[in-house]
Amino acid sequence: MAQAEVLPRSQRPPARTADPCIMVIFGAAGDLTRRKLVPALYNLACAELLSREFAVLGIAHSPMSNDEFRNKLSEEIREYAGGDIDPNIWEWFRRRLYYLTAEFDDKNLYSQLSTTLAKLDQDHATRGNYFFYLATAPNFFGSIVEQLASVGLMEEKNGSWRRVIVEKPFGHDLDSAKALNQQLLRFAGEKQIYRIDHYLGKETVQNILAFRFANGIFEPIWNRRYIDHVQISVAETVGVEQRGSYYDQAGALRDMVPNHIMQLISLTSMEPPVSFEANAVRDEQAKVLHAIQPLSSEEVLTRTVRGQYGPGVLEGHRVPGYRNEPDVPPDSRTETFVAMKLAIDNWRWADVPFYLRTGKRLAAQNTQIVIQFRRAPFVLFRDTAVENLLPNQLVLHIQPEEGISLQFAAKVPGPIMRLGAVDMNFQYADYFGTHPSTGYERLLHDCMIGDATLFQRADMVEAGWCVVSPALDVWRALPPRNFPNYPSGSWGPREADELLERDGRHWRNFGK
Ligand code: BG6
Repeated sequence: MAQAEVLPRSQRPPARTADPCIMVIFGAAGDLTRRKLVPALYNLACAELLSREFAVLGIAHSPMSNDEFRNKLSEEIREYAGGDIDPNIWEWFRRRLYYLTAEFDDKNLYSQLSTTLAKLDQDHATRGNYFFYLATAPNFFGSIVEQLASVGLMEEKNGSWRRVIVEKPFGHDLDSAKALNQQLLRFAGEKQIYRIDHYLGKETVQNILAFRFANGIFEPIWNRRYIDHVQISVAETVGVEQRGSYYDQAGALRDMVPNHIMQLISLTSMEPPVSFEANAVRDEQAKVLHAIQPLSSEEVLTRTVRGQYGPGVLEGHRVPGYRNEPDVPPDSRTETFVAMKLAIDNWRWADVPFYLRTGKRLAAQNTQIVIQFRRAPFVLFRDTAVENLLPNQLVLHIQPEEGISLQFAAKVPGPIMRLGAVDMNFQYADYFGTHPSTGYERLLHDCMIGDATLFQRADMVEAGWCVVSPALDVWRALPPRNFPNYPSGSWGPREADELLERDGRHWRNFGK
């Protein structure tokens, strides 16, 4: 197997160890802490990227002592770390875990927090550097930051830093996202606010930038002259699991499009930034998001598709429809699938449609970006069966397969000229091996060294909401009448196929 030119660890330039600091997790008894945050911190400790001067303070309303919190996480880490646990590193980490039982809207919490942090800061020599991770229901975001500011915890003095990481959902429409930005910016500077989108923690998503800008051969053809269209699919086989009450209020459009899918679109379509400095990259992302043409009400009707899954068979098992999921009303009209055709109105992309789709309970789990190139003039191959004249497709496989493939035509061996479609295939694991990762390591580390490149700026969040706003408005005014309209285990409603077929195109399915 070919190997990438990767230097042995001892010869690689060292990644910077994070600054001394305390991470405060609001909502520490929840799923995110045990599944992602703590395993990610542990993986950072193993890679020696966490400072020796470090502590975690979890806050939640479930009553727990420090010891109970430590024991609980010691049990759970085995399940979620993705590899064997080194007992020495875990023990080092475990001793740095603390817990506070409190209600987030209790004003007394914040003065108590200030005192507790001052003590932990002394004990662990963390130099007054704190970051607050808001893994709470979104209605607490604004008030938590306001309360932190009221007791001076957002104030950066004597060389210390204070940062806040906000999880999604960031608003539920454009107006609420703007209001939340304004509220946060009253109590913290934009530089202190890290709006997280976990898609940017994925190696394959970060690789879009490396692929485009570190290779001379692709950028010259990365435009309307050579590209026919782009497809972005985020297909999931899972249903809504235990998140019915959140999901039924949100729906697939809000849950996936203004955030994760906009990241994929902007990285694929942005202009080269002048540097990899945070604002240089985010300026270009914001610029291209602003260039996405807002759909008119008529266009919402012809260029968007919504769907809801009914019962069906998935991977050989019968699964219930969305309306039979826990905490979902039996007559719910919430969409679990969305497809859209968007246009980017700039010189690079004019007339190149961007088709996107995402849905739950689809036939296969697969996130991929397909760049389909224009056909070669096939005058020389008139007698070849049309199905063999497949277009060139470059596919960025984001997950679960991680890699890049290029589909092109080759001569089928034999006495006559026949063409077949073949694939050149790069798989991450073949070249770089696999490393235990939750996808949060890079993001947490970046926050601890003050690099906001992979976090969303206020204008990017708002631009994402601008794209989906017309669909939200029209869909609200015209509730769907045909839900459920796709069986679990299918590729979504028929109209999603028609959206492309009308333009003489097809979705790339079946994980290929
Ligand atoms: C979350 C959504 O943000 O992303 C979920 O709320 C979705 O509904 C998830 O399942 C997908 O993330 P990933 O990393 O599994 O692709």
